[in-house]
Amino acid sequence: MAQQNNTIAVIGCGLIGQSWAALFAGYGFDVRAWDPAANWQAGFEASVAAALEQVRVLRRSAHAEGRIVTTDSLDDAVRGAFWIQENAPESVPLKIDLYARIEAGAEPGAILASSTSSLTWSELSRQLRHRDRFITAHPFNPPHLMPLVEVYAADASVRAKAEAFYNGLQRKTVMLSRDAVGHIANRLASALWREAVNIVDQGIADVSAVDAALVHGPGLRWSVVGAHMAYHLGGGAGGIEHYLEHLGPSQERRWASLGNPTLTPELCRRIVDGVMQEAAGRSVAQLQAERDAGLLRALAARPGDAS
Ligand SMILES: NC(=O)c1ccc[n+]([C@@H]2O[C@H](COP(=O)([O-])OP(=O)(O)OC[C@H]3O[C@@H](n4cnc5c(N)ncnc54)[C@H](O)[C@@H]3O)[C@@H](O)[C@H]2O)c1
Repeated sequence: MAQQNNTIAVIGCGLIGQSWAALFAGYGFDVRAWDPAANWQAGFEASVAAALEQVRVLRRSAHAEGRIVTTDSLDDAVRGAFWIQENAPESVPLKIDLYARIEAGAEPGAILASSTSSLTWSELSRQLRHRDRFITAHPFNPPHLMPLVEVYAADASVRAKAEAFYNGLQRKTVMLSRDAVGHIANRLASALWREAVNIVDQGIADVSAVDAALVHGPGLRWSVVGAHMAYHLGGGAGGIEHYLEHLGPSQERRWASLGNPTLTPELCRRIVDGVMQEAAGRSVAQLQAERDAGLLRALAARPGDAS
């Protein structure tokens, strides 16, 4: 890896790029940020400053921080960077075109990591000259607070570098054995949201009841044990084997009753109205601040997340 310096390029500086930039700087890396939008710098700098404050709270004690520099030139951003985190819009042609420009200016050996939520390594890497140095590294929003990074790398040594790099930022790196649309967590989240929408569509419960059931039930449990382990405990002393034998058929009955809703204009309207009711007049910015405060409390209570 061309780690002759400490610099990371953040390419695409919207919601996800801002958050990565704060995390990288909070862990001592210099950041060179680039976005093609007009007049993006002021908004970026304000968002990064707020996110960096949250990283400081999580890290508890003072640490050396990196410098964040914004630049008007993609070449300037990637030159000298040992890591390039790409957070451009979710479009295959756009990202492929961007990668050609990045490869032209990047250091030999630099790792190019895409934050893509749903696109796969195979489709994004098709035209790269150095496919081995390209990875997908999907964070959960907001990356500076949520520990998860899901990585797919075709090359074993790059895979090991990626794991070490994100773990060094106190992330929980989960490796995929093969690339998949939505990686792991977004597949799980999409399966769950599909049924959340179906419950509303079928008139079983309204939007706020579905969200409350999730936050106060499975969501709380899943924050400490995963889906498989939860059922190991659901089997009592007999564990998962007993659970599968005893309640496996009941799971299959539930699976057979799950829905596959279509997002018709009427259903979209009901979801939007339901979410507005749940928000009870709070703006997106207020809801985001409440979410972040809750995440900070939860993270502070977890062993091993803060350093
Ligand atoms: N929003 C999420 O919850 C989330 C979570 C994880 C990963 N992601 C992924 O992160 C990436 C960015 O998503 P986002 O939510 O930050 O989007 P966003 O719309 O907030 O930001 C995208 C940024 O990319 C810039 N941009 C436009 N064209 C570009 C180009 N050709 N090259 C570089 N930058 C360009 C835009 O000006 C904008 O600032 C996507 O691949 C998305 O799937 C999003």
